[in-house]
This record gives sequence, C-alpha cells and structure tokens, in this order.
Amino acid sequence: MLENFMKSKILVTGGAGYIGTHTCIALYEAGYDVVVYDNLSNSSREAINRVSTLIGQTIEFIESDIRDAEVLKQVFASHEFFGVIHFAGLKAVGESVSKPLLYYNNNVGGTITLLEVMAEYNVKNLVFSSSATVYGDPENLPINEGSPRSCTNPYGQSKLAVEYILEDLAISDNSWNLIALRYFNPVGAHSSGQIGEDPNDIPNNLMPYISQVAVGKLDKLSIFGNDYPTVDGTGVRDFIHVTDLAQGHVAALNYLEQRTSSINHSDMTKPVGFLPINLGTGKGTSVLELVFAFSDVSRQAIPYQFTDRRAGDIASCYASADKAKTLLGWQAELSIADMCRDTWRWQSMNPNGYTKVV
Ligand code: NAD
Ligand code: WQD
Repeated sequence: MLENFMKSKILVTGGAGYIGTHTCIALYEAGYDVVVYDNLSNSSREAINRVSTLIGQTIEFIESDIRDAEVLKQVFASHEFFGVIHFAGLKAVGESVSKPLLYYNNNVGGTITLLEVMAEYNVKNLVFSSSATVYGDPENLPINEGSPRSCTNPYGQSKLAVEYILEDLAISDNSWNLIALRYFNPVGAHSSGQIGEDPNDIPNNLMPYISQVAVGKLDKLSIFGNDYPTVDGTGVRDFIHVTDLAQGHVAALNYLEQRTSSINHSDMTKPVGFLPINLGTGKGTSVLELVFAFSDVSRQAIPYQFTDRRAGDIASCYASADKAKTLLGWQAELSIADMCRDTWRWQSMNPNGYTKVV
C-alpha cells in the first residue's frame, strides 16, 4: 500500500544503531525509501533483521565504514538519494576521554569523508545527529538554540567540531541544506518490544542502567550526587522518547523537501544553510523521579544508593522545544511513563539485548 506513496530515497548512516533503527521504521511509515549504511561497530545485523520484520520488507543494508570513501562513492553512484541522515558515530563520553583520536577520527574524519562524497554526487541535504552536550553547562534554562556552545570532553568536542564544519560549509556554498538536530536524553524503545537500546557493556547512561537493575542483571543503581540545586538534589534531564525523536527526523526531512522544492520554484526563499534545532520535550525530570516512575510502571524494586557526583556532570539540562514546533511542526508526545513502559517491555523481552532472545 505504501509503495504508491513512496517518497524520496534516504541514506541512513548508523541506521543499525539505537536511534537509527527507530528512525528507519518512522521513515518507512512516512513513505521514505531507506538505505542503511553501518559498520556494525556498536550494533548488530539482528537489529536490521528486526526492522525488516517490523516494516514487512527487507531493508537495504550496506555493512561498511563511513571513512571508506570508495564504498561510499559506489553507494552514491548506484542510488539517487534526496539526502542523508547521519547517525554514524561513537558516543561514549568516558571512552572518548581515553581514546580521543579514535573519536575525532571516526566522528569528525568520518563526517568530512561523507560530506566530500555527498558534494561529489551533488547530494546536499543532510540531517546530522548533534547533541545537547554542545551547550556544556548552560547559563539559562530552558536551553534555546542561540545559547553559547562549549564542551569539556572529546565526544562533545567532536559534535561541536562537526557543527562548525557544517556552518562553514553552508557559508561557502548556499546550495547545502544542513540541519543539526540537538538531541537531549533519548530513552525508551519501540512499542513492539523488538527494538531498543542494547549497550555493549555495563551501561553508562541512566535509563539502561535502571532497566538492567529492574531485570536483575545489575544489583543496584548508583545515583551520582544528591546535592545539586534541583527539586530533590539529583540531576535533572530532558528525557525524550526515541519514537518521538524518530518522528523529529521525519519532520526535518519533510522540512528539507518543502524548502528545497520551493527554492527550485521561487527566488524568494532563502536557502536552509546550517540550521540547529533542539529535539527535547521542554520538561526536566530528576534522576529520582525517573527511578520512581520506572519502578511504578515495571512493578519492580530499583535498589539505589547515593554516591559522589560524576565528573563532568551538570545539575540541570532541558530544552526549549519552540523552534522545532515552529519550523518543523514537531513536538514530543510521549510521557515519562511511556518511556519507562516501553524500555521495560524491551528489557524484559530481551534481557540480553539482541544477542539472546527468551
Ligand atoms: P548507536 O551507537 O546505537 O548508533 C550509532 C551507529 O553508528 C552504530 O550502529 C554504529 O555501528 C555506527 N557507526 C559508528 N561509527 C561508524 C562508522 N565509522 N561507519 C559506519 N557506521 C558507524 O548510537 P545512537 O544512540 O543511536 O546515536 C546515534 C547518533 O546520535 C550518534 O551520532 C550519537 O552521537 C548521537 N547522539 C546520541 C545520543 C544518545 O544519548 N543516544 C544523544 C545525542 C546524540
Ligand atoms: C543522566 C543523569 C547522571 C547514570 C549523556 C551524554 C550526552 C548525551 C546523552 C550523547 C545524570 C545520572 C547516570 C548512573 C546516575 N549523549 N546517572 N547514575 O550525562 O545527561 O548525557 O547521554 O550525545 O552527551 O553525556 O546522561 O544518562 O548518563 O545521565 O545517577 O548510573 O543520570 O549523573 O544526572 P547525560 P546520563
């Protein structure tokens, strides 16, 4: 049925990962044709298989690295892409501190290679995965897109460096249309329970840690600090359901399609250039509030202890989501309870992630 409405073809780098898989499903449901390009460094073929099962057709998948320009060129030569959604990147803050060259090489070097090949094939529409981490420790809340940017770790610097590169590219040539989506804290899973976040090791992030405690894989959660100037002393973040986030990418692509078609037909429309947009809910939730919400929904005890603050953490971070609403017509719909319920469904159906199914 959807074939009749098939829209443009999109290259999704990093499409086998956590946010990429959810976005592939949303893109397919919105009528986009998708090609996934991923080196599987932090994901698995099983994730791609499950996406194919959920959408009822085999997704085209290329297992390769974005730093391999020759493979990228072959892919661009053999498809007619409207644009690229660029998720591919490494994302572990702690690892980036011990392996900065790896992070700069992969996240910055890989993006430059991708952009060079896009330029060669005249594909100039890009949606890039940026992060609220580019705001550092914010001066004002909620954080809007004009807030100052600064980062304290190589992962964050790599995202900021790519933003600067995109800005310079847009200045150099106004035929580029470059949206940087700054995600706040993505959590949750697909409502089927088939797709979700599958950390390789002991999770660094709060939600997967909580869900592994709930399912009995980890003993107890350490809450990093209870003396922040927040509602209950624990850190406050803007958690956003990954399904809402996926819809934000569809909205960004729709926006690029509208803008580029009007550029072609009217001299009055300005090029998109470099456009940063927050994807968050606009609401802050504390660590303890999330723990209690998860416990309520899952009906599991989540033992926890307070420990020292984690180095580099900030007290509070939440988005102004106005720009996304005004420009893209997008806003987050799902609640903290939805995020917990869907994470729990994924975790309890797949206690060992994609590797073992019970
Ligand atoms: P993920 O690790 O699940 O997905 C990233 C995917 O990119 C993986 O499948 C990995 O195998 C692939 N990849 C990495 N380097 C590659 C390379 N050189 N060539 C080809 N493929 C490569 O991470 P995610 O949570 O889905 O994040 C997606 C993007 O969003 C990343 O760029 C990340 O930095 C960014 N982001 C994530 C969060 C978050 O909290 N999850 C927040 C803000 C921004
Ligand atoms: C959230 C809150 C912790 C774990 C990170 C990256 C950021 C972005 C999203 C990619 C904080 C507390 C956590 C635990 C805890 N990723 N916590 N015990 O740090 O806001 O953002 O992921 O771009 O760049 O830095 O997310 O989930 O790690 O932490 O108490 O075991 O939970 O102190 O207050 P964070 P997080």
